[in-house]
Amino acid sequence: MKPSPALLRWAALASLQSLVAALTIAEINGNKFLSPYSGQTVTNVTGLVIAKGPNGIFIRSTTPDKDIATSEALYVFDKTVGANITVGDIISLDGKILEYRNNNAYLYLTELTTPKNVQVLSSGNKVKPLVIGKDTVSPPSEQFSSLDGGDIYNVPNGAANISAVNPVLQPKKFGLDFWESLSGELVTVRKPSAIKQPNNYGDTWVIGDWKASGRNKNGGLTMSAKDSNPEAIIIGTPLDGTKNPNTSKMGDVFEDITGVVQNTFGFYYILPLTAVKVSAPSKSVQKPTTLKRAGNCKAVTVGSYNVENLAPTSAHMSKVADHIVTYLKNPDLIFVQEVQDNSGPTNDGTVDANVTLSTLAAAIKTAGGVTYDFAEVVPAPGNLDGGQPGGNIRQAYLYRPDMISLYKPNQGSGTDATAVVPGNGKGAAPSLSFNPGRIEPASSAWTSSRKPIAAAWIVKGATKPFYTVNVHFSSKGGGTSLHGDIRPPVNGGIESRVQQANVTASFIAQILAQDPKAAVISAGDFNEFAFVQPLTTFTSISKMKDMDEVAKIKVEERYTYAFDMNAQALDHMFVSPSLAADRKSDFEHLHVNTWSTYADMVSDHDPSVALFDLCG
Ligand SMILES: *[C@@H]1O[C@H](CO)[C@@H](O)[C@H](O)[C@H]1NC(C)=O
Ligand SMILES: *[C@@H]1O[C@H](CO)[C@@H](O)[C@H](O)[C@H]1NC(C)=O
Ligand SMILES: *[C@@H]1O[C@H](CO)[C@@H](O)[C@H](O)[C@H]1NC(C)=O
Ligand SMILES: *[C@@H]1O[C@H](CO)[C@@H](O)[C@H](O)[C@H]1NC(C)=O
Ligand SMILES: *[C@@H]1O[C@H](CO)[C@@H](O)[C@H](O)[C@H]1NC(C)=O
Ligand SMILES: *[C@@H]1O[C@H](CO)[C@@H](O)[C@H](O)[C@H]1NC(C)=O
Repeated sequence: MKPSPALLRWAALASLQSLVAALTIAEINGNKFLSPYSGQTVTNVTGLVIAKGPNGIFIRSTTPDKDIATSEALYVFDKTVGANITVGDIISLDGKILEYRNNNAYLYLTELTTPKNVQVLSSGNKVKPLVIGKDTVSPPSEQFSSLDGGDIYNVPNGAANISAVNPVLQPKKFGLDFWESLSGELVTVRKPSAIKQPNNYGDTWVIGDWKASGRNKNGGLTMSAKDSNPEAIIIGTPLDGTKNPNTSKMGDVFEDITGVVQNTFGFYYILPLTAVKVSAPSKSVQKPTTLKRAGNCKAVTVGSYNVENLAPTSAHMSKVADHIVTYLKNPDLIFVQEVQDNSGPTNDGTVDANVTLSTLAAAIKTAGGVTYDFAEVVPAPGNLDGGQPGGNIRQAYLYRPDMISLYKPNQGSGTDATAVVPGNGKGAAPSLSFNPGRIEPASSAWTSSRKPIAAAWIVKGATKPFYTVNVHFSSKGGGTSLHGDIRPPVNGGIESRVQQANVTASFIAQILAQDPKAAVISAGDFNEFAFVQPLTTFTSISKMKDMDEVAKIKVEERYTYAFDMNAQALDHMFVSPSLAADRKSDFEHLHVNTWSTYADMVSDHDPSVALFDLCG
């Protein structure tokens, strides 16, 4: 069927209206996250070709404006557009402006698509990258977005989306605005250093020679309250098809890196022109713990270690044992997390972990360590606690039987809820109805998650028991990128962890209600930062104190995990007021895994060790 003359006229008019002539690149980008010309066809866009990639080219305006909020560069997305074009050419072209993302939790990338009428106006022009922090303002070092309300961990999460609000960019104040204002640009990072191991693809988080807050001794960037390190940037796949090394580690210094800024996979990246090169490998300053046990109740060492899906046949079994002997120095008591059942991830109905734990105890002896006994509570069958399917991960205790024993032991089952039993007479020490026992295993707080294991112990020479609660709260799975569209980003699992903190803290509060001077230690993988709501709930209900504070560990050295740009503390030890007030109480994190190559990591978490007087 032939289109009617009216329809033809309308179509001609419509296409005329969406044809926008001779805009500068700054005008196309605008001073916000989204281009004001998104969806429109633009003609005779002029730019200097500053880089070529496998799927397109990057051009920079030849007529820049003076506004630091408008990027002067643009990505031209087309597999073949670069075929007859050389870096240094000044070209003009037409095309359609699009905002692209492949996941609605990500920010958009502005790009020129379906390029037409590509003309080379001149060749051999000089291409100079912008040196970050010198030719640009310095990357902001604390805040990511004006929509985070001053704290990226504010609740509720997801109160706003950048793409809906589309705020005017403030590159001096907000990290995402800074990187967006350089979208498509060719930049150089001077004196880059790795702030963690690369991922499987060789993508590596770095900072350059600009001002950075939170630098730790091993060269990582530690997060703190209201500072999750927007000054860091991830170096992605090189544009020339080479591969970044996957053997670098926290603190390694690279040769200067030049590449283009692009938002992809939910983050602002610099895609380097070619693979990055380590120029100076870092040297870890990590030494074994300095905390010294006494062999009696006066100085008891207590370790905590998430041993990452440890099963009897795990390749990392002997390495975990070696860490316990060499770095933790055979603590009197060790809280372990992520112990799998005797059949590991095989989903065969096995839930007992006595083989896993005795294999670990034997490996510790083989590594030159001491004899450990263990205590666990076998989870109810049916994979009810989350984690790797079939693995039935749980927390457990390893303890030196020559030093410590359970106080009034009464083994709990997976469904038994232990209760605090008042002691006989005023001021008498409470005991636990199941010891070891789980805390409220039927509570909905623990759906698909690990129930805490409480225990009461008596240590050689002591007059009173002490109490422990070993936790592994729900993970941050389902969270959204700190560089993403959703602000504040979704802190995955936060609702579960708030409930879990409440249940656990309320149990501890019962012990302290019976005996305000009781020695209580709660440690493990809380999957949360000390300054974020689940743990502020935990400390306010339980009155427990963070050992990082008690031991006055420098804020930069408070980390047990490295994720994206942040060295961060997911693992903690909290103690009751009497232990917090005791000047002998001490604490150390051993950064054996966050500082190491990917291949040498034994677990994804660092262990910690504390020292207490537990004489009572
Ligand atoms: C395209 O822009 C260039 C300057 O960048 C100008 O010299 C040229 O005349 C323009 N061409 C058209 C067809 O508008
Ligand atoms: C590149 O140049 C060749 C030879 O002139 C031509 O056949 C080809 O179509 C050009 N490719 C593009 C993408 O312009
Ligand atoms: C933000 O975007 C997500 C994903 O598209 C959407 O589910 C959510 O409702 C949006 N939030 C707001 C506050 O608009
Ligand atoms: C590191 O890269 C090498 C060579 O490309 C590859 O064989 C190896 O599997 C990679 N290692 C990891 C942990 O991704
Ligand atoms: C594990 O427990 C089972 C059942 O109680 C017992 O038969 C087995 O000997 C134990 N194995 C080890 C290594 O302790
Ligand atoms: C803790 O849980 C109790 C009982 O469900 C509830 O009443 C209380 O509001 C909770 N407290 C906090 C701080 O979430």
